[in-house]
Amino acid sequence: MQKRVSELFTQSFGSEPKIITRAPGRIEFIGNHTDYNGGTVLGAAVDCGLWVAVSPRSDGRRRWRSAIGDTVVETGEALTKLEGHSSWINYPQGVIDAMQAHGLEIPGGFDYAVESDLPVGAGLSSSAAIELSSALAFLELTGQEVDREKLVKIGRKAENDFVGVPCGILDQGVSGFGKRDHLVFIDCRGPDFSTVPMPGGAHFWIFNTHTKHALVDGLYEARHTECMAAAADLGVKQLADASLELFRQEMHKLSPTVAKRARHIIEEIDRVGKTITAMEAQDLDAVGRNLTASHRSSQHAFENSTPELDSLVDQLTTMAGVYGARLTGGGFGGAVMALTDARFGAAEADQVAQVYRSRWGADPQVLHMRTGDGAEVIQSNQA
Ligand code: GLA
Repeated sequence: MQKRVSELFTQSFGSEPKIITRAPGRIEFIGNHTDYNGGTVLGAAVDCGLWVAVSPRSDGRRRWRSAIGDTVVETGEALTKLEGHSSWINYPQGVIDAMQAHGLEIPGGFDYAVESDLPVGAGLSSSAAIELSSALAFLELTGQEVDREKLVKIGRKAENDFVGVPCGILDQGVSGFGKRDHLVFIDCRGPDFSTVPMPGGAHFWIFNTHTKHALVDGLYEARHTECMAAAADLGVKQLADASLELFRQEMHKLSPTVAKRARHIIEEIDRVGKTITAMEAQDLDAVGRNLTASHRSSQHAFENSTPELDSLVDQLTTMAGVYGARLTGGGFGGAVMALTDARFGAAEADQVAQVYRSRWGADPQVLHMRTGDGAEVIQSNQA
């Protein structure tokens, strides 16, 4: 990928890039919509992601090139929100905006190219990956260093304020703190970040339904609003501050829909804790039961699943070698993640795909994912 992004840069701008960075995508392991409620969450960085190549320019021009589009887009130093094919540029532009808000020096003109080996639309958070790889590139361009926590906060701020999605810290936190063969644990109240070793012999499979997954289209925001309403009705600052006892006592104050959303979040935070205990005990069966319980709660209480995702979970959970399965990420389409042992291989995954195809008339994308390391500077040849 380093060679590919370097070649894309050279082909677009006629010189070699000075700086190359990369940041991984992530799997949401468990902790669904808990992050912006101040809860806990577990995720894993994957071993593919986004690669950014940049060089400074002295004339204030900013030229952008993505491997997906075939043209170079030019903007000036003023940040303007773009639409259509160029809207991906809002993510790196949002990073510049967030760096400024954090009191950091921002880059002037530059040439910028981005390449990806992360499947797009699979719920693996290409947005956090472009935010973090861009942030590292811009920091390197301006000769600044920040700690990991600030790096992930810059990424989140870009998405919240400039792109306009009220996401929590999960995606950026995992892309920033990821470690091969580990899960990233985030207590979003701090936020505090740590890593937990993955028990040996566990495998991740992703089944991407290719059904609509656009957080910006309002459903994610609607859930966010319902959760804030639930916290206010329960008299707590955020849902992570509400115990199950408090919820049971006070739930009559909530509308039936808002009560379902709150129940999902409060129980999900509890499941994250149980999952960590089970991991420490190397009890992957118990881990898997929590994963599937999380999905059922999404399906019935948070209502951010779809019939396609449910059918995948239904089938996967009957198969040998599958510990558990759940939707991963924001929901409303996207992908299911299964945690398996080695008995579940390519032939079994193909069987799942066939059943899916006969039911829905379309092939899911099947990915056997490996965990990987967090965002990093790969090359820096500044004069
Ligand atoms: C998306 C958001 C995250 C998180 C998940 C749901 O991935 O970007 O912040 O809220 O949905 O858990």
